[in-house]
Amino acid sequence: MTTSQNLANPKHHLRARRAALAVTIVTAITLALVLNANVIRVHAVGAFTSLKAPGEAAFVAGHRGDATVAPENTLEALTLALDSAADYVETDVQLTADGVPVLMHDWTVDRTTNGTGPVWTYTYEELSALDAGSWFGDDFAGATVPSLEQFLNVLRWSTKNAILELKGSWTDEHVALVADLIARNGVANHVILGSFDIMTLQAVQRVSPELPGMLIVRDIVGDPAQLAAAAGAVALVTSKKAIMRNPELVQQVHDAGLGILIYTLNDSDTWSDAVALGVDGIVTDRPAELGTWIAKEVSDRGTLPFAPQHAFGE
Ligand code: G3P
Ligand code: CA
Repeated sequence: MTTSQNLANPKHHLRARRAALAVTIVTAITLALVLNANVIRVHAVGAFTSLKAPGEAAFVAGHRGDATVAPENTLEALTLALDSAADYVETDVQLTADGVPVLMHDWTVDRTTNGTGPVWTYTYEELSALDAGSWFGDDFAGATVPSLEQFLNVLRWSTKNAILELKGSWTDEHVALVADLIARNGVANHVILGSFDIMTLQAVQRVSPELPGMLIVRDIVGDPAQLAAAAGAVALVTSKKAIMRNPELVQQVHDAGLGILIYTLNDSDTWSDAVALGVDGIVTDRPAELGTWIAKEVSDRGTLPFAPQHAFGE
C-alpha cells in the first residue's frame, strides 16, 4: 500500500494523527522542561559575580544533601536538599577501584554502609551492592551509594546547583572522568568543584578551565588572593573557627574579588553572625531550616546591615 493509499484509509489516517499528536506532546513537554530549567536556573558561579554585603542573605548549601532527614550523600538526601529551599547541594566524590566516581564522605565505607574497608578497594558493582541506608534508619534500608553519574542525572532536571567536593588528591586523568560526566549531563554551568587539595584544583583548571573551583581551607593563612590564585579558585570555603578568630577575613576575601563560604553552621545564632558579616554562602546540615530562616529573618528585614550579635555562639 502506498503512502497516499494509507492516508486515504480513515483508520491509517487516525493512527497517523495520533502518532503526530503524541510526538507534539512529547516535544512540548521536553521543551517546557528544558526551557523551564534554563529560564529559572542561575549559573553556579552567579553567586560570586556580586558578592554579599554585610546583612545580605547568604545562599544555602545542603551539606551532603539534607543529611538530617536522610542518609548523607544518598540520592534520597541529595534529592531532598534539591527540593528544599537550599540553593546548592554539596556532596563528596571519590573513585572506586575500577575508576567510577561515587558519592561518599569517609575514606572507608564502615560508618555509612554495612560493609568495611576503604572506598577505593571496592569496584563500583561491589560498592553499589552495599546498604547505605540502614545505619540511618529502617525507612532507608536498601539505599545505595550513588555514582556521580546518577546524581548528575538528577541534577540536570533541577533548578539548583551543586558543589562537588573531590576528596583527596586527583590526577588530570581522574579529574577528566568527572569533567566528562559533567559535560555529558550538560551541567557545566551548574556545578562548582571544591577541594581541600590545591593540586586537585590545578588539575581541574588544566583539564576543564571552564569549571569553577573553590578551595576548602580550615583556616585562611596569609593573602587570600594568593591562596585562591594558586588553586585557580573563584571562592574560598572555610571553617567557623577561622572566621571566629578573624571576622575581618570575610572583607579581606571580598576585597580580593573572591567569594567566601563557611562550613558547617547548624543553628540560628551562627547563621545570624555569618549573614551579619556578609558571608556569601553557608554550608549546613539543615538546608530546609536555614532556607526558611533566611526567608523569614533576613530577606524580610528592612534595615540592613545588622551587627553580629552572638560571636558565633561563643
Ligand atoms: O563544604 C566543606 C565541607 O564539606 C568540608 O568538610 O569534611 O564535611 O567534607 P567535610
Ligand atoms: Ca564535603
